[in-house]
Amino acid sequence: KKASIGVTGLAVMGRNLARNLARHGHTVALHNRSEQRTRDLVEQFGDEGDFIPAYSAQEFVDALERPRQIVIMVKAGAPTDAVIDEFAPLLEKGDVIVDAGNAHFADTRRREAALRERGLHFVGTGVSGGEEGALHGPSIMPGGSKESYESLGPLFEDISAKVDGEPCCTHIGPDGAGHFVKMVHNGIEYADMQLIAESFDLLRGALGHSPAQIADVFRTWNTGRLDSYLIEITAEVLAHTDAATGKPFVDIVTDQAEQKGTGRWTVQTALDLGVPVSGIAEAVFARSLSGSADLRAASRGLPGPSRAPLTGAAAESFADDVERALYASKIVAYAQGFNQIQAGGAEFGWDIDLGAVAKIWRGGCIIRAKFLDDVSAAFAAEPGLPTLLTSGDFRKAVEDAQDSWRSVVATAVRLGIPAPGFSTALAYYDGLRAERLPAALVQGQRDFFGAHTYRRVDREGSFHTAWATSDRPESPA
Ligand code: 6PG
Repeated sequence: KKASIGVTGLAVMGRNLARNLARHGHTVALHNRSEQRTRDLVEQFGDEGDFIPAYSAQEFVDALERPRQIVIMVKAGAPTDAVIDEFAPLLEKGDVIVDAGNAHFADTRRREAALRERGLHFVGTGVSGGEEGALHGPSIMPGGSKESYESLGPLFEDISAKVDGEPCCTHIGPDGAGHFVKMVHNGIEYADMQLIAESFDLLRGALGHSPAQIADVFRTWNTGRLDSYLIEITAEVLAHTDAATGKPFVDIVTDQAEQKGTGRWTVQTALDLGVPVSGIAEAVFARSLSGSADLRAASRGLPGPSRAPLTGAAAESFADDVERALYASKIVAYAQGFNQIQAGGAEFGWDIDLGAVAKIWRGGCIIRAKFLDDVSAAFAAEPGLPTLLTSGDFRKAVEDAQDSWRSVVATAVRLGIPAPGFSTALAYYDGLRAERLPAALVQGQRDFFGAHTYRRVDREGSFHTAWATSDRPESPA
């Protein structure tokens, strides 16, 4: 018997994907650079399904049914290229190589084009949900050709998470579309995490609540519209006490957030596309600021306001205000992220169904949330929606939230509690809805110092004012 799919790279993510496939009744060929991992998997989990261990690239390829489907689960970058170079020469026309790691979509586009020339399908696929997700049902975002999805789709849909009986897996679009969407997923993940962290900091700083009390607040929020995996685990982390010291766990962890790079890629790409993903950018920068140890040490004595906590009615309503501010800021972060997917789709010629993306993010992935039901419904109702913010329910939610949102940002500013995520989201909202922006003045400045020209509100064409001439005549540029 041959295997319907193979997995090479059996570190925890690869191993769990392989086990998930086997548990769903698929015969899985296994391969790893060092043989021990392959042996360990078969030894420990061999009874979970049908595995065919292979101890050479040729053996692995020979174990597979045609078209062969090989999932690569190794580190992004050079290790991925090395594995592709090892297997591609052994494959035949129509075979499929899947890169399920967190690759940069530009690498995926390059690899796809190169392998297409050789008659092979290359599928860059996003897989979200961490180790647990990989084993019990991740959210899967495959790119690549339509044809490759015909054989791969049923397998991936089978092992993906399900919400309302629907698989959290869909063909995103050609070449790098899957990895692009996974990248933006991670960018949104950064924004979500930052907003939640700011909420914690505000509740602590403005109310003097303990982490355990704030855990309860998050638990309550998790029963409402903020119901999501990240809110749920936040409550768990905040409620946890360090065994060694008896202190809240969150107080014994070094306050320097690390990153592997997908959030940064999201922002770099957004800059190239000209899409203002300020919420994601602030989240990435907040991590960088936290990690700037020397800079922070040098700045520690800088003066700030006195931090008298809130009292009276302001204190009483504060947690609810933060909930509203968090919800509104979250809507902004997702609106920005979806705009980036829209822009990426237009730039690279992918036809991405935003409603379908929101739908497969409802389960399995790190940003899974009840909220995504509404996001998916909003795009299904109006596929060309310019921004989530104008869609019925979200527009209403932001309208209801805005007084609280403004007051929370004002409180943060007054108490000197950094809330870049909340502030930028609100500034973005106010920027979008503004009748006139001071960008007109920026255009004037550019024309003044560099003759960069401007357009007028009342006439077609570009113009330049001769600023150095005393009567400042204007001429068409
Ligand atoms: C997922 C996660 C996963 C990874 C994060 C961590 O969707 O399952 O996003 O891909 O754990 O990318 O990212 P940082 O290390 O950059 O925080």
